[in-house]
Amino acid sequence: MNVAEASPAPDSVQPFIHLDKVRKSYKARGEEFLAVSDVTFDVAAGEFVALVGPSGCGKSTLLKILADLHHHDSGEVRIGSPDNPFDPSRDIGMVFQQALLLRWRTIIDNVMLPAEILGLPIKQSRERARDLLAMVGLAGFEDRYPHELSGGMQQRASIARAFIHDPKLILMDEPFGALDALTRERMNVELHRIWRESGKTILFVTHSISEAIFLSSQIVVLTARPARMAALVPISLPEPRTVADKTNAEFSNYARKVYELLGMT
Ligand SMILES: Nc1ncnc2c1ncn2[C@@H]1O[C@H](COP(=O)(O)OP(=O)(O)OP(=O)(O)O)[C@@H](O)[C@H]1O
Ligand SMILES: [Mg+2]
Repeated sequence: MNVAEASPAPDSVQPFIHLDKVRKSYKARGEEFLAVSDVTFDVAAGEFVALVGPSGCGKSTLLKILADLHHHDSGEVRIGSPDNPFDPSRDIGMVFQQALLLRWRTIIDNVMLPAEILGLPIKQSRERARDLLAMVGLAGFEDRYPHELSGGMQQRASIARAFIHDPKLILMDEPFGALDALTRERMNVELHRIWRESGKTILFVTHSISEAIFLSSQIVVLTARPARMAALVPISLPEPRTVADKTNAEFSNYARKVYELLGMT
């Protein structure tokens, strides 16, 4: 072994997330059921990474492992580094397919919920909640109740809620799956802007290939269950991205590649 191999990598080049040969099985009805068999990828701090793969292949399972809600059987899962320590109870924000807002709380009180649970200073958090609601285009709706907002607006509020405690990592599990096509396109543009402005690391599960290409710096393509790596596809589309980019030849080439990797061509 030479000296370079023996010394640990400087922190600046260590990935923020490191998964190596991650395996996860569930026990169901007395039988072991392999959900994730061999998943290996790295995510740099500030990256936007999409996970795509067939239904039931283990994408949500992987997010739950990263959120520390499930334990993996073997392999390595590391988030953060000595210079950038990571505490899953404080450093993760989650967004799901449904907005999951509490109907008896106003929009701003819903956004405030994680701050209250974590015991963060209320006054500053409320100011931050107002700023975040403005960031997601909901200024003026702070005191409305969830049923007074459209589905897209509710999902924007749930994105603001995921950012309230300034987490280092945002995990999104098909966050736009329940929206109509046009609202979804708008939310893609909004989320891309929010990601660029916030500098957060985002892992995003989607079934939409064009959404994955539009949003990501890298796409993790997974095989049918049990999830294995089909490929990592770096996306180097110019910034800022607009919906019109989806009609470019470069965009179509990426789409063709991902469909091929999924065995759909
Ligand atoms: N708690 C559980 N107990 C037993 N099996 C489970 C559990 N959670 C998930 N599974 C199984 O593990 C596999 C992967 O599930 P997972 O929810 O991670 O898939 P997914 O890729 O997110 O699917 P989808 O795209 O449909 O959301 C599935 O076959 C599922 O049946
Ligand atoms: Mg899922």
